[in-house]
This record gives sequence, structure tokens and C-alpha cells, in this order.
Amino acid sequence: MARLRTAVLISGRGSNLRALIAACAAPDFPAEIVAVIANRADAGGLAHAAAAGIASRVVPHRDYPSREAFDAALDAALRQAGAELVCLAGFMRLLTAPFVEAWRDRMINIHPSLLPAFPGLRTHERALEAGVRFSGCTVHYVRPEMDLGPIILQAAVPVLPRDDAERLAARILAAEHRAYPLALRLVAEGRAPVVGNRVVLQTEPPAIEALFNPPG
Ligand code: GRF
Repeated sequence: MARLRTAVLISGRGSNLRALIAACAAPDFPAEIVAVIANRADAGGLAHAAAAGIASRVVPHRDYPSREAFDAALDAALRQAGAELVCLAGFMRLLTAPFVEAWRDRMINIHPSLLPAFPGLRTHERALEAGVRFSGCTVHYVRPEMDLGPIILQAAVPVLPRDDAERLAARILAAEHRAYPLALRLVAEGRAPVVGNRVVLQTEPPAIEALFNPPG
């Protein structure tokens, strides 16, 4: 079985990277992580790559005079690694439209809300301020507009009365660690094609996504 060659881009602690590494360790998983790229040398997640024996690289955004130059360096690193798919996992840089288009439908992201609600930063604070009863996470294909793009998978979690941003974030993060590997599996198996502006999952019930979207 040819496994989809996947690169993971990180900026920080890399707990989603760790979840993806764990999933890829299963012999029947349809993707493998061939490279981890960080835009900061102090990204904690680099240790997860090292522990798993995965090649990692730091491409410091500060070394480049413009977003275009940084994205060109990223693109070169991805191609050098032979990446077929890019997973953004807590990658905190905005990417230019030409870069995003070059990886169209081959780059996915995880965001800690039920998009299109609460794109951008301070997600949990804003969810609490809005008084929503559920929040969650979304894995989606990347488009030039931040935190938009065809949705592959979502997981909902309840917002509880005594939640603060930290508690809500922790509950959502646990859901992220389940959702991202499942979304990667669906993409790698070719079961999450983009049709128009949406993903039409090619799965028969009971499918793994039914865990998150149980039939009524
Ligand atoms: C996650 O909440 C992810 O949804 C968001 O940034 C956070 C990254 O956490 N985009 P980690 O680095 O994967 O632990």
C-alpha cells in the first residue's frame, strides 16, 4: 500500500502533530509523515518529530524579507521532502494566496471551533462571550481566506456552565486529537473529495465520521 506522503507544519507545542504521528504508526494507516517543518526554532513539537525519528526542519519566517519569500522557502522545503499533502497543525503564519493555490486541495488545517463560527484568534474567549452551548473543532481544506475552506470533519463538544477559555480549550483539544487523524485518513484514502465548495465524503455507514456526526 502506497502511503500518502504528508508534511506537518507547526509553530508551537505540537500536540496535534503528536496525535498524527501516533495514528501514522499503525501499519495500515494510509498516510506517513515525511517531514515536520516549523517556523520557529523553539517550537516544542519539534521534539515529537525527533522522538519519532521524523526529519524536521526550521524555516524561520524572520529570515525572509517578505511573506512571498517565506512561502517560497516553505514550498521548496515541502517539495524537497516529496510531500503530497500538507497538514497545518497550530501553524501560526498567514500564507499567501499563490502558495495556498499551489497546494489547493492538498493542504488541510485544524481550527478549534465549529467553523464558520469563530475563525481567527481568541476562539474560545469569543465562543464563551457569545454564549454558545456547543463548540468544537473543524478540519478543513485550506483556502486563501483564513480558517475557511471545505469542511472535512467536525467534532462538537458541550460548553459547560463553569467553563473558562482554558477548560473549554482542553476539552476541544481532546476532540482535535481524534478528529485530525480521522480526517487525514479520509483524505489519504481519497474519501474526502471537494465537489464545488464542499467535501462530499465517500463513506458508507457505519463510517468513522458517524462517531462525530451520529445519524439521527
Ligand atoms: C490547536 O488548538 C489547533 O486547533 C490550533 O492551534 C492549536 C495547536 O495546538 N490551530 P498544538 O500545537 O497542536 O498542541
